[in-house]
Amino acid sequence: MKQEQAPLSNQTPQTLWVSLRSAAEKLAAEDAVFAPFLTDTILSAAHLGDAMGRLLSQKLQTPHFPASVFRDAYAALWLRGAETLGGKIVRDMQTVLANDPAAHDALRPFLFFKGFHALQCHRLAHDLWHHGRQPLALLVQNRVSDLFGVDIHPAARIGCGIMFDHATGIVIGETAVVEDDVLFWHGVTLGGRAFAPEDRHPKVRQGAQIGAGATILGNIEIGAGAKIAAGSVVVKSVPAGATAAGTPARII
Ligand SMILES: CC(C)(COP(=O)(O)OP(=O)(O)OC[C@H]1O[C@@H](n2cnc3c(N)ncnc32)[C@H](O)[C@@H]1OP(=O)(O)O)[C@@H](O)C(=O)NCCC(=O)NCCS
Repeated sequence: MKQEQAPLSNQTPQTLWVSLRSAAEKLAAEDAVFAPFLTDTILSAAHLGDAMGRLLSQKLQTPHFPASVFRDAYAALWLRGAETLGGKIVRDMQTVLANDPAAHDALRPFLFFKGFHALQCHRLAHDLWHHGRQPLALLVQNRVSDLFGVDIHPAARIGCGIMFDHATGIVIGETAVVEDDVLFWHGVTLGGRAFAPEDRHPKVRQGAQIGAGATILGNIEIGAGAKIAAGSVVVKSVPAGATAAGTPARII
């Protein structure tokens, strides 16, 4: 059963932060095994961005790249635009809570949903890519691929209010664009049709839904609100609001 503490549409970075903290305190009291983890990630954090940076950096760290490398990079991103980044986190969380029946409260996606983590890591990689740190951006991409099985080129442009449900096997290429409020299930490819250095990846417009295992190839457009059926191979643009299915996909 859902346990949201504030109406979804009213959430702000601050109200999300307050509800995460209170849910973390409750979980730490109920199950002591979680207390050290929750203290490190949420209960010692100063704000939503700090908590996100702590959580992601613990996952991204390697023997050569300690958590502080990623935590500092995330802190720099937060400092450049806390309201913008906080607002995107809220929108992503709202989308997950509204569309994934398994997300009973905000704490679960925040702590445990790898699609949510992969998306937040992409925001970091994208920022690094555009701030002169392309090798570090590629390292983040590589770690996300290793950890979550989600491979998103740092240059790909992804909006907010996005859900990667299950997420395993999502691949998004360099020149792909994903507008706001798009839902992905696992195994989705937004790829090129052949080697070509130019703009070669799909453009997914607002509110589209991409079913599990869908392969979308080339610089084509998936129109606003369109649905792509699970298992489809899409090589031609799909109009707004249409549903496409099959291999090759046809409008149904
Ligand atoms: C495409 C989709 C959005 C259509 O849903 P819908 O609008 O409710 O449509 P229906 O289920 O009524 O199906 C409409 C037609 O499309 C066909 N169809 C549905 N899904 C299909 C698919 N993945 N591939 C091929 N045909 C499909 C149905 O058989 C039906 O054909 P018919 O009219 O000849 O009987 C939905 O089937 C789908 O694939 N969603 C993705 C869900 C997903 O990825 N879930 C993963 C959870 S882990």
